[in-house]
Parts: sequence; C-alpha cells; structure tokens
Amino acid sequence: METRRCLWILRPHWNLILFLWMVSATSGQIRYSIPEEMKKGSLIGNVARDLGLDVRRLRSGRARIVSGENAQYTALNPDKGILVVSERIDREELCGEVAPCSFSFEIILENPIELHRVTVEILDVNDHAPSFKSHIINLEISESATIGSLFDLESAYDPDAGINSLQNYILSTNDNFALKQHSNADGIRFAVMILQKPLDRELHPHISLKLLAVDGGNPQRSGSVNIEITVIDANDNPPVFSQTVYKAMVEENAPKGTYITTVNASDADSGSNSLVTYSFSNVKGKSAENFEIDSFSGKITVSGYIDYEKDKRYELRVLAKDQGSLSDATKIIIDVADINDNAPVINIMSFSSLISEDVGLGTTVAVFNVKDADSERNGKIVCSIDTSLPFKIQSSLSDYFNLLSDAAFDREKKAEYNITILATDSGTPPLSTAVTLHLKISDVNDNAPVFTKPSFSASIMENNNPGVSILNIKAEDSDWKQNARIAYFLEDTDVSGNPVSSYVTLNSDNGDISAVRSFDYEQIKQLVFIVRAQDGGSPPLSSNVSVNIQIQDQNDNPPQVLYPVQTAGSVVAEMVPRSADVGYLVTKVVAVDVDSGQNAWLSYKLQKATDRALFEVGSQNGEIRTVRQVTEKDLLKQRLTVIVEDNGQPSRSATVIVNVAVADSFPEVLSEFSDFPHDKDYNDNLTFYLVLVLAVVSFLFITCLVVIISVKIYRWRQSRILYHSSLPVIPYYPPRYSDTLGTGTLPHTYNYEVCRTTDSRKSDCKFGRAGSQNVLIMDPSSTGTMQRIQSEKNILDEPDSPLEVSC
Ligand SMILES: *[C@@H]1O[C@H](CO)[C@@H](O)[C@H](O)[C@H]1NC(C)=O
Ligand SMILES: *[C@@H]1O[C@H](CO)[C@@H](O)[C@H](O)[C@H]1NC(C)=O
Repeated sequence: METRRCLWILRPHWNLILFLWMVSATSGQIRYSIPEEMKKGSLIGNVARDLGLDVRRLRSGRARIVSGENAQYTALNPDKGILVVSERIDREELCGEVAPCSFSFEIILENPIELHRVTVEILDVNDHAPSFKSHIINLEISESATIGSLFDLESAYDPDAGINSLQNYILSTNDNFALKQHSNADGIRFAVMILQKPLDRELHPHISLKLLAVDGGNPQRSGSVNIEITVIDANDNPPVFSQTVYKAMVEENAPKGTYITTVNASDADSGSNSLVTYSFSNVKGKSAENFEIDSFSGKITVSGYIDYEKDKRYELRVLAKDQGSLSDATKIIIDVADINDNAPVINIMSFSSLISEDVGLGTTVAVFNVKDADSERNGKIVCSIDTSLPFKIQSSLSDYFNLLSDAAFDREKKAEYNITILATDSGTPPLSTAVTLHLKISDVNDNAPVFTKPSFSASIMENNNPGVSILNIKAEDSDWKQNARIAYFLEDTDVSGNPVSSYVTLNSDNGDISAVRSFDYEQIKQLVFIVRAQDGGSPPLSSNVSVNIQIQDQNDNPPQVLYPVQTAGSVVAEMVPRSADVGYLVTKVVAVDVDSGQNAWLSYKLQKATDRALFEVGSQNGEIRTVRQVTEKDLLKQRLTVIVEDNGQPSRSATVIVNVAVADSFPEVLSEFSDFPHDKDYNDNLTFYLVLVLAVVSFLFITCLVVIISVKIYRWRQSRILYHSSLPVIPYYPPRYSDTLGTGTLPHTYNYEVCRTTDSRKSDCKFGRAGSQNVLIMDPSSTGTMQRIQSEKNILDEPDSPLEVSC
C-alpha cells in the first residue's frame, strides 16, 4: 500500500480515486496510478498483495499479463508478485489531449484460472515546456502605426495537461508594446501585442522582443520566441540641409557648366522616403536663367551669363523635397567676382571743333566723361593724350575731364589737330578706349603780308610806251582766306617833285606795276618808291617794300655843240697867225650829249676842210690843231666841218662849221669877213613878228581849251544819261592820264643838265632850272633837234632865230 500512500501524499484530491480503486479491488480489479516517464523496472504495484494472492500461487498459476492495449508498458514479475514499468510511458504520447489517461490489461492465473483486471492510470508529469513553432517571429510594423494597434502573436503549445499546460505569456520589457492575453473556447491561450507608444524608425529601426510562454507545472517550464520587429519607414522626416546658408563665389563671364557649390540635404527616413530632390524656389527670373541645379546631386552650376555689372550677388533659395511632400529650404549666396571685361567708355559732353588761334593758354576745348562698368581697380581710369600735342587733360569732377590748350596755337604752323584721348583702366590686362577729336584752328589776322623779296628793282628803257608793264611785285600772307587777301598800294611819295603816281600805276590786285608815261632818262634816272601790301583782315596788317625802277638810257639825244657858237647872222672865225707852228691849237670844238654812258661818249672827226692837210681834229677832245706850218699860200678863209658823233647804237651826230682866218692882223680879217649881211631893220621887224605870233598862239590855246572842256562835259552828261537805267558806271581814267587826255599836253618839268667843257682837262657843270618851259633853242640848220622843239620852231618859222644858250 506504499503506492497508495504515495499517491495520497502526492495529491490530496486523489482520495476519491483511491476509494473507488479499493472497491474494485475487492471485486477482482486493481487500479494503479503512476506518473508518466517512470524508469524501466520502476514498480507500478504489488499485484500479489493487492489481489490477495500468494506469490507461490502466482508462480504456480503461472500468472501472466494477457495482452491488452498498451500492455507492453508493463511487465509482471511473478516471483515478486509486482508489476513494473517495462517501457517508458509518455502520457502525451499515450493519450494526447485525452484526460485522464489510462490503459488496462488482464492478469491471468491458471490452476484455477483467475482473471484479474488491472487498470493503470498514467498521471501527467510536467515534462513539457511550452514551445513555439518557430524561433523567431518577424514582424514588420510601420512607424506610422497608430496607438492601440494590435499585433497577433503566435501561440505557444504545451502538450502537458492541466496545470502543466501553458498558463501565461510574458513579453520582455519594452517601451512600445504591451501584451494582452485571451483564451478561446478550446482553452488555447493567445497573446496579442498592443502598440502603446508610437514607433520611430529613425530611433529604433529594429526592436527585438522576447515572448515567454510559461506553464503551471512545478518546476515551471517555459518556452520563448524572439520577436523581431522591423519598423517600416514612414515619411515622417523632412529633408534637412546641412547648412542654413551656403556661400559661394563665381567669376563673371564664367562659362556654362562652371561648378559653384553643392548643397546637401539629408532625410532621416529611409528608402524612397529619404530620396531628396533639389530645386530652386522662389527665384527671380534672371537667377533661374543663370544657374541650374542638379535635382539629384544638388550640384549648382552656371547656366547663363554672369555679369558683374548687372548683378554683384545672387541669392538663391534651394528647396529640398523628399518623395512625400516634406521639404526644407536653404539660401545660397553667390558673390560675383569682377573681371576686367568692360573697356572704359568715353563720352564727349561738349567739344568745339573750331578754335581761334589766339585763344589763351588753358582754354577748354572739350569736356568729356569716362565711365567703366567694372569696379575697383578694373574701373579705375587714367586718361592720356599724346604728350607732343599742345593740350592737357585736367580732371574736374570725378569721371569728368577737361581738355585744355597747353600752348599757344599758330594756325600757320599747324591748322588742325587730331587729339586722341586714350582712356585705360587699371585691370590686368588693362582695357582701353580711344576717341579722336578733330580740332581745327581758325585763323586770326596775325601775319602781315611778307614781300617775296626784301626790295624790288627793275629797269626800263626810256621812251617806253605808256602803260607798259614794268614789273610785278608779290607779297604773301600766311593767314587764311580774307586775312591772306592782299591788296597793293602805292605809298604817296614824291619823285622829283611829282607824286609817284604820275609815273607808275600799281594794280592793287596782282601787284603789276606799269608805266603811266614815257620816261625820259635825261630827266629822271630812277624811281624809288614804297609799295604797301595790306591784307583783308580786321584790323588789316600791312608791310612796305621799296621798289627801285632804273630808267635806262637810250641814245635819243644827238651831241650838242656848245662851241664854237653857231650864229645865223654873224660869222665867228678863229684866227691863226701865219707864224703858227705845227700843232698850234686853233680852237676846240666843245659838244655835249645829254645821254649818258656810251651814248654820251663823243668823238670828233674832221668831215670837210678847205685844206685838209692843214688841220686836224682830236678825236677825243675836239681840239683843232694845225698839222703843218702855215704858208703864205694858204687861203685866209679856211672852213672846217667837224662832225661830232656819240657812241650810241645807232650813233647820233652833229656837225659844226668852224671858220678859221689865217691872218696876222685883225683888220685884215674884218675886211675879209665884212661881206656877211648885218641889218638893223631886220632885227626890229623880228621883234614885232614875235610878239604878234605869241598873241595868236595864246588865243588859239585858250580857244582850244574851252572847246575841249565843253566837249568833255557834254560827253560826261551823255554817259550819265545812258547808264542811268542800269548800273552807274563811272568811267575810270588813270589819274595821270586824264591830264594828257584832257589837254593833249604833258606837264613838263624838265631838268636839263648842261655841261660845258672848255678844256678836256677841266669841266664846269651848271644846272639850269625853269619853272615852266625851259627850251634849248638850237640852230636848226646845224643840228637835229627834238620834235617838240620842232613844233615851236614851225610857229616861229624863222630860219635865223637867235640862239639862247644857258651856259
Ligand atoms: C586727322 O585725321 C584725318 C582723318 O583721319 C586725316 O585726314 C587728317 O590728315 C589728320 N590730321 C592730322 C593733322 O593728322
Ligand atoms: C610803311 O610806310 C609808311 C609811309 O612811308 C609808314 O607810315 C608806315 O609806317 C610803314 N609801315 C611799315 C610797316 O613799315
């Protein structure tokens, strides 16, 4: 009964079962309860005793187990009368879920046959731990799962029965989940996780939990499973830029594609939720044109034309967006670095292209303004001009410059200037711009006319035609146009008491000097006067030059015999004594020639003689000398004709008759020459005729004068009437011609030089001067005279008119 006791001890509530078993035993049935999993050979029960049988009986009766279901688990030891475990008994295997679990068999005895039924109840032992089918439960839970969300967990299984079966689940401690358990109708326990606190993938992308399933056995057994929770990303994080402001620098004119910077935004989400795209946001049109951003890499490059002069700084806003709608923005400040890409620009504000040559130093010629769109050094400008030019640049206001004259101008040296203004900035390399101003210097009448020669001289043959051109004088004026237009004037000087304009006339336009009248060398040998050239400036400038006109001699005067005097009425004779020796000087023929030079170089020749052998004439000095001794045979009256010739081309000559008386006494001579007529009445008559003729001539002259003046006035009036309807034309008469035309006579103021030479060794000159007409009256028979004297001779019409010699 140890077993019973044992059982009793084991479980107090088995009392009832034990009681029932006691009843059955009496009726030949035995019932044992044994725990499962007993060792082989373990005692199940003392059958002999429980059946009230002797061991011998058992042996003799050859007690044995008649097979029954599951009889193999037990074996009967007949020697000891006990029932032992012959094979391991697993309740779970034997009965599964069925409870209580028992099997029965019969023990048979022979001699007599006895049949006893034995029932063995297998009691559960907590030999199984609760277990899960898998080791790991993988769960994927979105981090966006809401609180209270339920997640079914796999149930554990414990084959043990009753209290040994699964009793509880325990979840490892965590922040997010709680466990809720419930049983279904079958009594199977389930566990469910409830989300208590939102998940954050970014914080805990993975959560590992352990679920413990425990039974109620003693010792308690448990099984566990790992719950691996993968938190699935939800797009709950916006992208975040690594910097709030990015700064970058770009040179202007940077080519397209130039790298500027890369922006980077990170998104804590994963997968597609962390895919960030970049774009410009809220940019002004031009910025968007000038830059582009790679939407995936965030690389910003130049895409347009960067011009420092337009924008010195760009501020761009870049937006980073994930696949959801979350975004972040950052600012990019791009500073543009200046490049010297703009040349200076010169702007002429005012410029006078014509400037007078007499402007003072420092006169402003132009005002200009220079600009450079670049900045700093690149926009710093220096202006210059060619230093050889007489100009300088002065800075007035900032960026404004004055171009000033820096020297006196002289249009005559340089009439125009090309002033090239060069504006250069200070960049590297420097850029420059040039502007050329074309400046003209206007003329000021600052140059007097200058004659081409320091003095002018010319010569003209006397007896020229009036109006003949003598010479041309020329002056030049280096000024311009009107200031260089020269007019020529005769300075009013006197030549031999007459105004010079009575000799020559000057064409004021071209400087031609021509004769007004025919010159007479014997009266005037040279004309010296001043010509003034005056320009047309205001005020005009002028200069003087002296003009010297030499009048050249022509052989127009025959020699004049002064001695011996030729008288018409009386005969003069030279006396030669008969005793005269050879070479006796009889007389000397004295002649003059008013011409000069060769034309006045006289030679004497004996042309005719009564006795050629007696006399000779000195060809140079005109001395008549005897050639031989005078003899008694020589005639008393000797008549010699001496010809005086000048050396002109052609030569002119005069003849003189010399009467020589060869006598010893004066009375002898007188008697010889008394046959010459000598009448006193004749002389009285002559005086009367002269007075008469003079009166007639004077009357004729005055009459002519009146007639001519009347005709002149009449013609002048006629011309006035003729030209009255059209332009008034005043007939021009050269001032010195008018006299000639008006009266037909010339104003004569002649100055004759008369030389008388008595001997070749000494000469004696006198100047005869007369206010009106100074006429040398010569013997017409012996000499060719000037024509104008000829006319007067005609009036007188007296072949033997008295001679008057002013010597
Ligand atoms: C100035 O330039 C013009 C045209 O370029 C040229 O005809 C002229 O001769 C130049 N003048 C001077 C003084 O160089
Ligand atoms: C020119 O001559 C005139 C008269 O002889 C004189 O008055 C004048 O001063 C002179 N002019 C010059 C420039 O020599």
